[in-house]
Amino acid sequence: MTPMDELARRLPELALRTSASDLEHYGRDWTRRWTPSPLAIALPSSTQEVQGIVRWANEHRVALVPSGGRTGLSGGAVAANGELVVSLEKMNRALGFDPVDRILTVQAGMALEAVHAAAQAQGLIYPVDFAARGSCSIGGNIATNAGGIRVVRYGNTREWIAGLTVVTGTGEVLELNRGLVKNSSGYDLRQLLIGAEGTLGIVVEAQLRLTDPPPASQVMLLALPSFEALMQVFAQLRARLTISAFEFFTDRALHHVAAHGAQRPFAEDYPYYVVTEFDGDSPDAALEAFGTLLEAELVVDGVIAQSQAQAAALWHLREGITEALARHLPYKNDVSVRIGAMPRFLAETQVLLGREYPHFEVVWFGHIGDGNLHINVLKPEAMENADFVHECGRVTALLAQSLQNHGGSISAEHGIGLVKKPYLSSTRSAGEVALMRGIRRAF
Ligand code: MLT
Ligand code: ZN
Repeated sequence: MTPMDELARRLPELALRTSASDLEHYGRDWTRRWTPSPLAIALPSSTQEVQGIVRWANEHRVALVPSGGRTGLSGGAVAANGELVVSLEKMNRALGFDPVDRILTVQAGMALEAVHAAAQAQGLIYPVDFAARGSCSIGGNIATNAGGIRVVRYGNTREWIAGLTVVTGTGEVLELNRGLVKNSSGYDLRQLLIGAEGTLGIVVEAQLRLTDPPPASQVMLLALPSFEALMQVFAQLRARLTISAFEFFTDRALHHVAAHGAQRPFAEDYPYYVVTEFDGDSPDAALEAFGTLLEAELVVDGVIAQSQAQAAALWHLREGITEALARHLPYKNDVSVRIGAMPRFLAETQVLLGREYPHFEVVWFGHIGDGNLHINVLKPEAMENADFVHECGRVTALLAQSLQNHGGSISAEHGIGLVKKPYLSSTRSAGEVALMRGIRRAF
């Protein structure tokens, strides 16, 4: 009896898939660097089935790859070496809402957008948000401590997880923190699981904290004359308005989004753009802030959305970048530094990348209001992908060095996955990496 026959015998209700198209579909994420080659795909419907899979995998020494919406950009959900993919997509239901605690309990395979809808049905919000909302799953968000576009106001996924149910590597089920607000009884294992990318266990259920919706918000697009103006505009707007998002992108990013069908916002081209959203401030306060920035020559043009449709169109200019760049097989950097360190880091990185990537197109965008920069290097059409990745890897090592000098991180929100594994030790100390290994062994 093969190990797969044994798995099917032990868990007769478990959905298993092995068709070539399924192996390809479930074996990859949004990175396109690896050829998917999983052993099979398991789609459990219950915590007990996940437990059974983990125990079987231990006995047969089969590696598992937990799998959510596979929108990841770091190769964290790639199965290219005969692993069993454990897709949580059948475990996608809301399990209940407690109005006193304001906690929504969900299964890990629920899409972020469905979580938003379930929160809205209670008159509340789950505030973590980003462009992949329609296809990413809450389990994947938890695995990477996903950030996104509202971190400047609401923080990362970590802040909104009140409890987790996980299956550890030995097949034990743990209920971590159980929705408590205060809990000083030892290590917070829940927080260890958040951002662990499935290395410590498989998240099967989560208790999500919900909050009040913000007052009516407004969306503004600004055109900036220089990179240097960016952080000054952020500081000035944050001092005057209740900023819930502050996202930037360059003219190259706009070029690609427009080439992908978006409408250009201004008659003229400008080098840098910011989409910002603020809550509850009057249009007059926004206009006044805009006037001050204009006078100081920190912005050169701008528009405030007059309708929901216009707000969505402005947001699309920023949120459409990933999709617009995808066909260029971008090498993605997802780095962060403290907001205070951003101006010097930006200046240095511009020089570094200008010097090291003279023949490559580099597209900058990101969540600049929380210190997270996405630097996407586009593959020249004529270049082999392996050569391109090798060259980008060389420059990433230099970037990692610079991040270390500035106290930054090699991954702000996408996770380490396979893509950044070689660079983890550049921004985490040897002591930290050794402890992470020990914790993984313990789980
Ligand atoms: C984004 O900010 O749009 C996402 O992190 C995706 C990306 O970096 O491409
Ligand atoms: Zn991002």
